[in-house]
Amino acid sequence: MTFLYKADPARGAVWAELLAQKMPELPFRIWPDIGDPHAVRFLAAWEPPRDLATQFPNLEILFSTGAGTDQFDFAAIPPALPVVRMVESGIVQGMVEYVTLAVLAQHRDWRTYQAQQRAGTWQAHRVQPASSRRVGVLGLGTLGRAVLERQRSFGFPCAGWSRSPQQLYGVDCHHGPEGLQALLARTDILICLLPLTDSTRGILCQRLFDQLPRGATLINVGRGGHLVQDDLLQALGTGRLGNAVLDVCDPEPLPPGHPFWTHPQVVLTPHIASMTQPETAVDAVVENLRRYRQGLPMVGLVDRTLGY
Ligand code: GLV
Repeated sequence: MTFLYKADPARGAVWAELLAQKMPELPFRIWPDIGDPHAVRFLAAWEPPRDLATQFPNLEILFSTGAGTDQFDFAAIPPALPVVRMVESGIVQGMVEYVTLAVLAQHRDWRTYQAQQRAGTWQAHRVQPASSRRVGVLGLGTLGRAVLERQRSFGFPCAGWSRSPQQLYGVDCHHGPEGLQALLARTDILICLLPLTDSTRGILCQRLFDQLPRGATLINVGRGGHLVQDDLLQALGTGRLGNAVLDVCDPEPLPPGHPFWTHPQVVLTPHIASMTQPETAVDAVVENLRRYRQGLPMVGLVDRTLGY
């Protein structure tokens, strides 16, 4: 019985060390050193091999090493094979940090002051109270909820939107298509933390931007496929949107010369908002293996009908 890892090998070495401590009875291998393919029962992968079903006929669980599974080709994964997203505290912490950085930079006019410094300008602008800056989050999974909780602690009026109804302390929760309209109408800083599915692809489009207050900020930490790039350029050009912070794009990286690279209203980072941390990821996997063995539901089990 083998646990196989197929993602960044440097981080895999840390997984190996930690799993050896926490589950010494479970042999661990790093791709491409797969050993006997029939022995592979558990696979943790960012991108599983194409011929997964034939290569590992005895596979019992496929773990994503990332928070999302949109990079998986579900058509090539046996329908009965449980697929588990990475739900671990390290990813959550990183995401909360990144979004906080982006929200506070916007709230405290960081880019204006950077531009002023370069121009040799000493000029103060009024410090707006946090209570005047309305934050809205699309997607109320583990990440969306943690992000909202932290933004709420600064005093930003917080709202969230999800497919199905949710309740969150101190957060104005909306759901469904009508709920989206209500959320957008009251949001100055919009954060996308949705999973990428057939129903969320291209959601960040002109129709959505048009429902935000003029000059709103977009922070996309979901997936590049959520955004219609031309619509964003248009919205920034007309002032419909003020700024955008993009940690994800499609494709990654963007081709040389793409307008986002140099756009004065765009901050672009290379998909680093958050990363799976081996220390906490291994704890999450060990806990899920324990649950699996005891017949309990695993944390992050993907519902294929929903796509997350
Ligand atoms: C990164 O984007 C992840 O899915 O963990």
